[in-house]
Order: sequence, then C-alpha cells, then structure tokens
Amino acid sequence: MAESAGSSTDLTRGVDASSITDGKMILGHVGKDQVLLARTGDRLFAVGAHCTHYHGPLAEGLLVGDTVRCPWHHACFSLETGEALRAPALDPIVCWRVERDGDRVIVREKLTPAPASAPARAVVSVALPASIVIIGGGAAGLAAADMLRREAYHGPITMISADPDPPVDRPNLSKDFLAGEAKDDWIPMWPTDLYRERQIELLLHSPVSSIDTAARAVLLADGTRREFGSLLIATGADPVRLPIPGQETAKVHYLRSFADSRAIVDRASHAKRAVVIGASFIGLEVSASLRTRGVAVDVVAPDHLPLERVMGPEVGRFIQSVHESHGVVFHLGQTVSSLAGRKVTLSGGTTIDADFVVVGVGVKPSIAIAEKAGIATDRGISVNEFLETSVPGIFAAGDVARWPDPHTGERIRVEHWVVAERQGQVAARNMLGRRERYDAVPFFWSQHYDVTINYVGHAEKWDRVTIDGSLEGHDATVRFVRGGATRAVATVFRDKASLEAEVELERSTASAERPTP
Ligand SMILES: Cc1cc2nc3c(=O)[nH]c(=O)nc-3n(C[C@H](O)[C@H](O)[C@H](O)COP(=O)(O)OP(=O)(O)OC[C@H]3O[C@@H](n4cnc5c(N)ncnc54)[C@H](O)[C@@H]3O)c2cc1C
Ligand code: FES
Repeated sequence: MAESAGSSTDLTRGVDASSITDGKMILGHVGKDQVLLARTGDRLFAVGAHCTHYHGPLAEGLLVGDTVRCPWHHACFSLETGEALRAPALDPIVCWRVERDGDRVIVREKLTPAPASAPARAVVSVALPASIVIIGGGAAGLAAADMLRREAYHGPITMISADPDPPVDRPNLSKDFLAGEAKDDWIPMWPTDLYRERQIELLLHSPVSSIDTAARAVLLADGTRREFGSLLIATGADPVRLPIPGQETAKVHYLRSFADSRAIVDRASHAKRAVVIGASFIGLEVSASLRTRGVAVDVVAPDHLPLERVMGPEVGRFIQSVHESHGVVFHLGQTVSSLAGRKVTLSGGTTIDADFVVVGVGVKPSIAIAEKAGIATDRGISVNEFLETSVPGIFAAGDVARWPDPHTGERIRVEHWVVAERQGQVAARNMLGRRERYDAVPFFWSQHYDVTINYVGHAEKWDRVTIDGSLEGHDATVRFVRGGATRAVATVFRDKASLEAEVELERSTASAERPTP
C-alpha cells in the first residue's frame, strides 16, 4: 500500500525527497487528478492513480521493477510510459513529469501520451502478414486486435464473430449486469466507433464454418471467404448442455453471451424463484446475482461442496456459507432428474417449484473448425509456447488453447478472462514475428456478493492446503502445495498478498529454469 501522504497532498507543491524511499508510492493529487508518485531505485515517476480496467486503486497495488500492478485483477502498467503492459487493462494511464529540486520532489505537467503505435516496434526481421483474420469476438480476439494496432501493424484486420454483439465484458454477465448493478452500455468492450477508427473490420453474426489451411482462407457460414496471411483462432468455449428429460416444457437458460444474460435478466424481472444447476463459479455467481434481485434460489449439484474440485473443501465450505447467509438453499450430492413445466424433480425425489432454471455445469472448448481443418487438438487446440498451432502462421488463444505452461510443466487449458486476453496479446505479437513465449502465471477472480476470491497459479491437484488468516473473517491466504512447492494461491480480501504470490510464482519458475553454472 502507498505511504499515505494523504490523497490531499498537492504534488505540485512537492514532497520531501526523503519521504519517498526506494519502492515507495505516495498518493496525492495534481489539480483534480489523483496521482501516484512512485520511486524505484533512483527513478521517480508520477502516474494516474486509477487502473483503466475497473478504476482499481493503484496505490494499493505493487511496484515490480518500473511497473505498477493493480490490486484488483492484476493489470500491469509501465511507470515510464503509462502503457498497459498486461491485461485486463488495455488502455494506458496518464504520466506526469517529475522534477527533483534540492530536497523536494515536484510533479509538473501532464506528459503527452506516446503514439499508440511506436514505429520501432514493428521493425522485425520477418515479413509481416499481408492480412490478419481473427476468428472470435471475445477476450482473446479483441485483445489481439488491440495489440496488433498498438504494435503498429497497418495491414487489414478482420474479426469474425458468431455473436450478434460486439465483444463484451463477459465476466460482468454473471455479476453486476445480471444483478442489475451495471448498465447495458458498460458491457461492450469498445464503443462501436473505435473499430472503425482502428480500421478493424468486425463481422458479427458470422460463424466460420471451415478453415482451408492450404489456401490460407476461412469460409463463413454465409458462403463468403476471407483470405489471411496469419490467422488467430479464439473461438472460446460453449456451455455443456444437459439432456434433462422434460426440459422442453420448462424455461431453461444457459449463460455465455450478452444475449443469454439479457434473457435471464428479463426472466428474473418477472420471477420469484429459480433453480440453478451447478455449484461452479458461473452457477454460484448467477445465484448471487439473482439473490441481489430478490429471486429465491435453490442450487442443485452432484458435488459434496461447491468449488471443492478447484478450491478444496475449506474454501468450498466458506463459499457455501456465504451463499447460505444470503438465503441460497443447496441440494448437494444430487442431480435434476426431470423437469415438467415449473416442477423440478431431483434425483433424491425432492421437487422444487421454480419459475425458471439456469444451467451452469461447465464448458467445452470450441474446437470443431480446427479439428475439421486438421489442426492438432488435445481437449483444446494444441499450441506451442509461442501459441502457434500445428499449422505455421495459425495461432490459437484463450479458452480454446492448450499450451505448455512453464510453471506447472504441464500442458494446460484454462477458462480465465485475463489469461485469454494476455494470450491474445502474445499471439498478436507472435503473428508479427516476435517469437515471445507465453509464460504468464494464470490469474482469475470470482465474485460472490461482496466477497471476491483472487486466484493465481494453477493447481489441478495438491497434497496440502495451508490457510493463513481466517476465511470466515474475510481475511485469508490459501496456498495449494504439491511436492513441497506452492502451485496456486487463493486470497480473500488480501489483494496485495495475491500480487505478491504472483511475483513469487513467476520468480520460482524463472529460477528453476535458470541453468546451473
Ligand atoms: C458469465 C461468465 C462469467 C465469467 N466470469 C469470469 C471471471 O469472473 N473471471 C475470469 O477469469 N473468467 C471469467 N469467465 C471466463 C472468461 O469470460 C473466459 O475465459 C473468456 O471470455 C475466454 O475468452 P475467449 O476469447 O477465449 O472466448 P470468448 O470470450 O468466449 O469468445 C469466443 C468468441 O468466439 C466466437 N466464436 C465461436 N465459434 C465461432 C465460429 N465458428 N466462428 C466465428 N466466431 C466464433 C464466439 O461467438 C465469441 O465471440 C466468465 C465467463 C462467463 C461466460
Ligand atoms: S481494476 Fe485494475 S485490473 Fe481490474
């Protein structure tokens, strides 16, 4: 956390140089702007105090080298240029000029932002692709398109999406938007004009039906073709559909798109009671949002505890108690055996009367077009460390990609917003010939009422869980340990600890990879 010289410190009047030691941040203001003054080594920086993702307080984040990381969802900004170096923030923060005057450090005028595309970056030794096609209008696709323009790629970019809506802030669809606390116009990632301004052709409602890898072209369902120099497959994942007897007689919803979320909002606004099938992140976030709307919720799931498989029994029990304290009724160790109009019958014989049902039982990666094209797949599209598929010049990123993760030493596929965006960014740079390894430590967050869980790392299995602090007291760090090494860390109301754990995981892999002298 920043040394509090108080948010009212007028940085244009200067602060005592001895008050800002190496690694320290001071929160103050310049005119009406909140500004963060930071020191790393002998260098001093002044930048905007709020993250460009959700306005997170950077003063409560972490300085790492000459960058600052946001405490909420781990975006990372350059202190020197303000650039958003790591998603989920895509836009830069503002920088101010800092001057040393004797024993005072004074913040002067706002600096003009560097041009969005620094020409030097585009100078690579390989020929740039004549055109780039991105299949998918989601997290990975949009972050890739954004990065291609930031990296001064001036060729044609076409983003083709099966969705009827332009790319949206998907995590919000089960949270504030569904709860009625975020407006419709907060949900699109970009205003529509921005696609035109950045010369990104956006084709909506346009499923790609096949990829011709030899002719370097994609075929759309409407029969048209698009040729590409380089291709990114970012088709995400589709909800797993449950074949429940009688489902055609009931009002059953799944949640992936903006349209799906709007349909649930519409349904909830006339409803009193819902059944949610699945006690995973989506099912539980939907439950929390419906409770916020005053809808009674019964959760049905075969698990013995919610989230146990991903988070272990301690966090599972804690999350269950959070939901129960908000009135959610759990029916665990059971499935829905049939639906008949409003009647939901469980495997144990109980029946529940419900206005509608939401199913959130996981997703499967959308790999059909890749498989059909002969691109290597393995429960996802197989990519190498540069996110390139088995076909040169064709990349994959996001929920669909299975990559060699240097931190676990395993080939993993995850369904995290920030990972999808960061992979889109790395794939974009690699389409321009960078040969940059994807080695970010995975991160995701999940929100249940006022409780947010941050999770860094990746642990499908562990042999020990340690808890520092108290989950019930909303102040805890949970470590998932395997073979003596921490593989993942979940935190509740300890954002700084989550950032520190991320750095620790990055460094432990880097030192393990360093050759012994
Ligand atoms: C409701 C909800 C809440 C979530 N909350 C969180 C959260 O809190 N934290 C977190 O870390 N993650 C969360 N996630 C997961 C996160 O949203 C995903 O990991 C992320 O969106 C994956 O990005 P992606 O680009 O791979 O896929 P997506 O964002 O799903 O985008 C895939 C795109 O591909 C398009 N597409 C698919 N097939 C074709 C085709 N054949 N032709 C053309 N287009 C095609 C789709 O229409 C879509 O536009 C949530 C997901 C959902 C659904
Ligand atoms: S608010 Fe900063 S990363 Fe989300």
